[in-house]
Amino acid sequence: MAGSFVFSMKSRIQFAQVPAPPSLATPRFLRHPFFAWAGLRPPLAQHTLAEHEALMRHSRNAHTVVEIGVAEGASAAGLREAMHPQGALYLVDPFHLSRIPAFNFLKRAAQRVVNSVGTARTVWIESFSHAAARHWKGPIDFLLIDGDHREEAVERDWQDWSPFVAGDGVIAFHDARLFPSGWSTPDYGPVRFINRVFREGSGAAPWAIIDEVDSLVFVSRRKPS
Ligand SMILES: C[S@@+](CC[C@H](N)C(=O)[O-])C[C@H]1O[C@@H](n2cnc3c(N)ncnc32)[C@H](O)[C@@H]1O
Repeated sequence: MAGSFVFSMKSRIQFAQVPAPPSLATPRFLRHPFFAWAGLRPPLAQHTLAEHEALMRHSRNAHTVVEIGVAEGASAAGLREAMHPQGALYLVDPFHLSRIPAFNFLKRAAQRVVNSVGTARTVWIESFSHAAARHWKGPIDFLLIDGDHREEAVERDWQDWSPFVAGDGVIAFHDARLFPSGWSTPDYGPVRFINRVFREGSGAAPWAIIDEVDSLVFVSRRKPS
């Protein structure tokens, strides 16, 4: 039963495909989040199915989950589905990119898909991650960093939020590595940050990379399994 529910949720999300098949691309006008909010198209994920499954694997049964950068809520839905049913999911996004701020269909589309799956208490934090960090208290079991992709912003998210992550907790960075036929390039802020801090230096110890799937890099203080 649980398995079929997982399948049906995934089947309602349009994942990024690599290489992108032009014939399956969503027409430009349909990309507006209004159409996702109205249920006229599936939420557009900015990650692959393999990444979705990896996010769910690493957040499985986590009690406190934070996502920085929510967009249409596709990854947030996967986290809510995988995490502990009585846990708390904190979704941080200023939703400032909405073209019609009074309606904010991006936020409404995200709320629609996130509310459709799982039971964890969900807290929407409508602000930039550095502002949200100033008020944060308490340990985090799983953190996804997928907000501002400039290298200095990724570094700031790391510095602001990693001290709150529990000893065996996990942080996932999206768009943080190159992969076959993928969209990321060596100039991507998250790629540059991960290479500089985790691959070329020892500045992140005791943190280390524990898993990598497509553009996702997972780090933790725990030993790799
Ligand atoms: C790449 S999208 C997130 C995609 C989403 N995680 C998914 O996989 O479906 C980036 C989002 O980050 C948000 N964002 C940009 N800067 C941010 C910041 N400083 N703090 C939090 N969110 C931010 C944008 O509003 C946008 O919705």
